[in-house]
Amino acid sequence: MTIRLAIVGLGKIARDQHIPSIARTPGIELTSIASRNASLAGVPHYPTLDALLEAAPSIDAVALCTPPQGRHALAEAALRAGLHVLLEKPPGATVSEIAPLLDLAARRGRTLFATWHSRFAPAVEPVRALLATCRIRGVRVEWKEDVRKWHPNQQWIWEPGGLGVFDPGINALSIVTRILPRPIFLTRADLSFPANRAAPIAASLIFSDPLGVPVQAEFDWRQTGPQTWDIHVETEAGVLTLTNGGSRYLIDGRVLGDGKEAEYDGIYQRFVHLVETGTSDVDLSPLVHVADAFMLGRRHTADPFEDHAA
Ligand SMILES: NC(=O)c1ccc[n+]([C@@H]2O[C@H](COP(=O)([O-])OP(=O)(O)OC[C@H]3O[C@@H](n4cnc5c(N)ncnc54)[C@H](OP(=O)(O)O)[C@@H]3O)[C@@H](O)[C@H]2O)c1
Repeated sequence: MTIRLAIVGLGKIARDQHIPSIARTPGIELTSIASRNASLAGVPHYPTLDALLEAAPSIDAVALCTPPQGRHALAEAALRAGLHVLLEKPPGATVSEIAPLLDLAARRGRTLFATWHSRFAPAVEPVRALLATCRIRGVRVEWKEDVRKWHPNQQWIWEPGGLGVFDPGINALSIVTRILPRPIFLTRADLSFPANRAAPIAASLIFSDPLGVPVQAEFDWRQTGPQTWDIHVETEAGVLTLTNGGSRYLIDGRVLGDGKEAEYDGIYQRFVHLVETGTSDVDLSPLVHVADAFMLGRRHTADPFEDHAA
């Protein structure tokens, strides 16, 4: 059976990644779009998910590609309508809103998939296997990019629930929580909020694992020029670096793997598998760390941020 999928929220990520990956993935096809302002030639369009559900086209699943704020209501409506649900990252605007969705999915016998696209980067699983076998001394994460390049004029990202710099930072945390052999917990956070914004533009985090191994993370949206999406793990065998957002890995500068980026193909292959096997996949650990950072973080005021540099 081919899963008939509707995309909800036809924005940047839906166009850049979801649509091409759905087209490449056997077992799933794009059959409708629900988006207030955007549509796609040749694909039936509805202004909202409610309008789509009311029209009741033959669909089996939705991919929610809207901002995190408001995603819970969409997911609940879709599950109640008997649809499988794929959630873009982060899975919600709060941690606690996910459990009722998981419960509903289980009661309705539907799949809920909270995606973490960076976990599908090609070096993540090899690095996880490597780290399972060696002693780790410390971890340093640097996730720095230019917000104007990656999030042009996106206002939701600066609102409560939009996560600010944690929108990319949570990608790093989704990798860290996958590759390290033990869970980590936050011990200190410093968050820099632009004076005119409700979400941070930079964050410095310190975590520990149960053995006292330090994990430091620097997230910054003010970097211009080349982006930095690196994780350095100091091990007894050398410094293992996961770079380019998880597509390449090196030990002491020697390249061990450099794979082709195909994160969303991996996401849709997994979604098809989850639906076929009647299972859900929801790991909230990256979101929990972000929530902890907002809870424990010391707030600093940074320069005001405008979408267009002066
Ligand atoms: N951009 C990336 O590189 C990237 C990468 C991976 C994951 N993501 C995740 O994907 C999700 C969407 O990100 P995006 O970059 O695609 O955002 P975006 O470009 O702003 O697109 C989101 C779309 O959702 C719809 N929408 C519904 N309610 C909205 C609201 N209250 N405010 C704004 N838009 C609303 C809008 O379409 P209509 O106006 O037509 O309804 C909008 O185009 C986020 O959770 C983000 O973290 C983004």
